[in-house]
Amino acid sequence: MDMQAHWENVYQTKAPEETSWYQPHLQTSLDWISNAAADQSASILDVGGGESTLVDDLLAKGYRSLSVLDVAGAAIRKSQQRLGSAAQGIGWLVGDVAEVALPARAYDVWHDRAVFHFLTEPKQRLSYVRQLTSALKPSGQVVMATFGPEGPQKCSGLDTRRYDAESLRHELGPDFRLLRSSVVAHQTPFGTTQQFLYCHFSLG
Ligand SMILES: C[S@@+](CC[C@H](N)C(=O)[O-])C[C@H]1O[C@@H](n2cnc3c(N)ncnc32)[C@H](O)[C@@H]1O
Repeated sequence: MDMQAHWENVYQTKAPEETSWYQPHLQTSLDWISNAAADQSASILDVGGGESTLVDDLLAKGYRSLSVLDVAGAAIRKSQQRLGSAAQGIGWLVGDVAEVALPARAYDVWHDRAVFHFLTEPKQRLSYVRQLTSALKPSGQVVMATFGPEGPQKCSGLDTRRYDAESLRHELGPDFRLLRSSVVAHQTPFGTTQQFLYCHFSLG
C-alpha cells in the first residue's frame, strides 16, 4: 500500500480516539502558534492536519486566514463536515507536503504535528524543507512537533525518526533559527505515553 492509500485507509476505518496521536485539543500547538502569530490576521498552514480540532480552536481564537493540508482526502472531508459552514472560510489542500503545489511566500506560520518524523528518506526531507522555505513569508515562523529522542520508532505501522532540537535544526538548515524547544509527554488514548519534541523556528 502506498503512503497516500495508507492514510486514506486510516481515516476511513478509525474513529479519532482510535489513533495514537489523538488529543481532543492540540493545546501545546495552540499555545505555541498563538505565541508565534501575535496578529490574528496571520496566515497559518497546518501541515498534515488530519482531523485534528486545531483549526476549530484557531478559528475560536479569532484567526481568520487558515489553511489545512493533508495527504488523505478522507481526513480533510471529516474536518470539513465537523466544521460545517465554518469550513468555507478555510483553505483546504490535499496532497503530499513534499510535492503538492503551494503558493510562494504565503504563510506567516507553518505548523506540523507528527508529519516530518515519517519522512525517513533524506530526499523527502530535502523536498519538505524546500517547500517550507518557499511557502513561508520572509520572516515566517515554524512550529513543529516530532517524536523526541525517546519517542516511538513506529507509528500507524510506519517507520518514524526521532529528533532532538539540534538534529531537527540541522534538518531545516541554516536559513532557520531555533527560538525555543521543549520535550512534551503525549498521553495516547490507549494509556501509553509518547515523547514529542516541540520546536519553534523562524526563517531568516
Ligand atoms: C500522526 S497524524 C497527525 C495528525 C495531526 N497533525 C494531529 O496532530 O492530530 C499524521 C497526519 O499527517 C498526514 N500525512 C502523512 N504524511 C503526509 C505527507 N507526506 N503530506 C501530507 N500529509 C501527510 C496523515 O494523513 C495524517 O493526517
